[in-house]
Amino acid sequence: MIDLRQAWLVGPVEIPTRLVLAPMAGVSVQAFRRQGRRFGAGLVCSEMVSCAGIEHRNERTLGYLRVADDEHPLAIQLFGSDPDSMAEAARMVEAAGADLVDLNFGCPVRKVTKTGAGATLLDDPDRAARIVSAIARAVDIPVSVKLRRGLRNGSRDCLRVGPLLVDAGASSLTLHPRSAQQMYTGAADHALTAELVSLVEVPVVASGDIDSRARAQAVLARTGAAAVMVGRAAQGNPWVLEEIVGGDRREPSREEVVAELVLFVRETVRELGERRAGSFLKKFYGWYLGRGRFPRPFKQELVVLDSTEEVERRLIAAAPGALELIERLESEIPSGDEVTLELPISIYGGG
Ligand SMILES: Cc1cc2nc3c(=O)[nH]c(=O)nc-3n(C[C@H](O)[C@H](O)[C@H](O)COP(=O)(O)O)c2cc1C
Repeated sequence: MIDLRQAWLVGPVEIPTRLVLAPMAGVSVQAFRRQGRRFGAGLVCSEMVSCAGIEHRNERTLGYLRVADDEHPLAIQLFGSDPDSMAEAARMVEAAGADLVDLNFGCPVRKVTKTGAGATLLDDPDRAARIVSAIARAVDIPVSVKLRRGLRNGSRDCLRVGPLLVDAGASSLTLHPRSAQQMYTGAADHALTAELVSLVEVPVVASGDIDSRARAQAVLARTGAAAVMVGRAAQGNPWVLEEIVGGDRREPSREEVVAELVLFVRETVRELGERRAGSFLKKFYGWYLGRGRFPRPFKQELVVLDSTEEVERRLIAAAPGALELIERLESEIPSGDEVTLELPISIYGGG
């Protein structure tokens, strides 16, 4: 049995467990990351943040740079294609308090790839290396890079590009061994992760299809990776993180599910505001209440409600015992208001 409660290092940054919570666009808000840390993730990551958005001081983009005290260690992930503006954005990530700056060289979505960012960089190793070295020179925090295997099915480009990125200054690599063309179909081929591990001296994180302790153990043993990353399996299911780092597999009670969801709703409303949070949260209702935990019509009732307050009332009515748990959790964890750091004026450019 491999012990996932072992610390490891990315550069000088100590990561307390060998479980990393995946960056997921439209999912990895502060509530998700803080919950991930509470349930055993040693490192959490923001969703990908647009370097152009930072450059233009786009207000919503800058919101992604807010870091709470209890998230550390935390990586903020950037995407972009121009080395100089990426380096400038990385300086802001460092100023915002991130422990690592992570680079997205894996996003397969056309909106991103057509700008030369994301997975496209796997086809342009020179540019990819120039981005990494510009950032490594610009900041003191370690630089990590997240890759797919390549653009096209069967590609092994990550084995050529990965070592170049390490030479350029990357302190760790995360591999999701699917091609961009595959999107999320087929299976993650962790034989490739094992090959990458053998080629580089820095820690490698294995991402893809890890949804249980058994699977995490098998991937770690087979690949020699420093850690596993968990994405989709943790959506609406922080309990899987607990299981993976070394707990028992257990189904949460209805009260626990409702308590975690209510906290998640409250915190997300504080972060995004009621209007944005209202639509953002809808997919989470299905994720939390599904898996046979509540009858299907219950989720349908929630998604049509007008306010998150109403959602909260319905949730608590379905499991009144949750109230006590919510109170306990809220007294144990600092409230978002206390821990949300305001960005320094310099980050907004003073305006
Ligand atoms: C909804 C969604 C959004 C994602 N967004 C990002 C992202 O912003 N940055 C990134 O590097 N990977 C992103 N990914 C990929 C995940 O980080 C992860 O590598 C992938 O889902 C495979 O892991 P899993 O099988 O544990 O989900 C995303 C995945 C999903 C499902």
